[in-house]
Amino acid sequence: MEREHWGSKLGLILAMAGNAVGLGNFLRFPTQAADNGGGAFMIPYMIAMLVVAIPLMWTEWAMGRYGGAKGHGTTPAIFQLLWRNPVAKYIGSLGLFVPFVVLCYYIYIESWTLGYSFFSLFGMLPHPDPNLPQDQFLKPFSQFLSDYIRPSFTAYLFFLLTVAFNAYILYRGVKGGIEKFAKLAMPTLFILALILMVRVILIETPHGTAVEGLDFLWHPDFSQLSNPKVWLAAAGQVFFTLSLGFGAIITYASYIKKDEDIVASGLSAASLNELAEVILGGSIAIPAAVAFFGVMNAKEVAGSGAFNLAFVSLPAIFSNLPGGDVIGFFWFFLLFFAGATSSVAICMPVVAFLQDEFGFSRKLAVTVTVIFTFLVAQIPIFMPKALDEMDFWAGTFFVVLFALLEVVVFFWFFGGKRAWEEINRGSLFRVPRVYYFIMKYLTPVVLFIILATWTVTTLPKVLVSGDVEAWVARFVMIFILSLQMFLVYLADRRRKNYEG
Ligand code: ALA
Repeated sequence: MEREHWGSKLGLILAMAGNAVGLGNFLRFPTQAADNGGGAFMIPYMIAMLVVAIPLMWTEWAMGRYGGAKGHGTTPAIFQLLWRNPVAKYIGSLGLFVPFVVLCYYIYIESWTLGYSFFSLFGMLPHPDPNLPQDQFLKPFSQFLSDYIRPSFTAYLFFLLTVAFNAYILYRGVKGGIEKFAKLAMPTLFILALILMVRVILIETPHGTAVEGLDFLWHPDFSQLSNPKVWLAAAGQVFFTLSLGFGAIITYASYIKKDEDIVASGLSAASLNELAEVILGGSIAIPAAVAFFGVMNAKEVAGSGAFNLAFVSLPAIFSNLPGGDVIGFFWFFLLFFAGATSSVAICMPVVAFLQDEFGFSRKLAVTVTVIFTFLVAQIPIFMPKALDEMDFWAGTFFVVLFALLEVVVFFWFFGGKRAWEEINRGSLFRVPRVYYFIMKYLTPVVLFIILATWTVTTLPKVLVSGDVEAWVARFVMIFILSLQMFLVYLADRRRKNYEG
């Protein structure tokens, strides 16, 4: 069966940018920056971008295009093609495990943004008296959130709608669904973010101004740079924001035509993501919080986590502005579009696997994937601690491990020179030569150091947590990984070493 292709270069770049631009840009980035040295955070961030993220981004685009030309869009087969070793395909199954597990909780959080868009638009969020002391003023909003995500009937309804929406986009295929949606969602998202940015910059209260907020966010605290935690946070953020190590870029890249440029397109998509993250993401949530609550209180708000900022503090702030319901709607709808363009991307690896390796029709592959997602998502929905556990393993630890495996397989087992030529084939301009050495030596070493540091500092703490919900999540994740490996085994037999 002929594999699909992207309809245009612009569509490809927007779809890849949509894959990257997500909740991470507008929520995770500003809270991470505020927590880890403000402006000084940008130093490890930029270094991680140059030595880890950009090399990995090109690696994933090249691996995907290479596999796609041979009829495979996921890493079990692609690893096997690049490295003729019987274990390659099983290691590659991590490229199905990571996106699937992340999808099962990401889509639930995404559904909150849809629910909150609706509540904002129809004025259904609380409107407390702004003269109340801060904690009393915020209380109705935190109460609203905890009632909502218990989960309530309404939360469940919006979850179902969100799953149906994602399924609908995926049913329509790569060009007719994902690409079309990205062409609508990405410009809309940028316009909404610009409107919000301008509106936020104008906020001035007796407690502060948004400009003070920008100053607070970007004021560099260089003393933080000696803290390894800050470096790990920066590396974690660049991974998350560019969706690296998720398998999702690889699958999207497998729909690129054989000799089409990936160097310039990859860089364009990553630049759009950075624009959305550093400029737009950095200019909305934190500056609004500082203008409204003052620097000291905003620190507390930022430290209380991204969800609190998004679903408690910001709706509270917006509820005080003229036309606040509409502004709140813009905020949540922006998050919904950002989330949806990412969730369809992390759903695609499993869909493509079923299509490519088992010959499923697109509709059947989407139906099966969506049913499984729906079932597994019940765990994070009903067990909040399970969500954290899934986020730690699939969304943090395995992402980095898998990224390390990707560069090693591509640059060492497939071969540095072949990998280099594969990246540059058909490109509008060649990647600067220094990147050959970065990709082959520096990137794997840095990834190894990050992983080793995590293993020593964080893993023991996570593993001793004996919470029942955490254990349920662990068993389910082991089950998912085993099932996926079994499917990989069956697919391999079916397609005779992934050649057929
Ligand atoms: N890259 C996606 C985000 O930032 C996962 O949310």
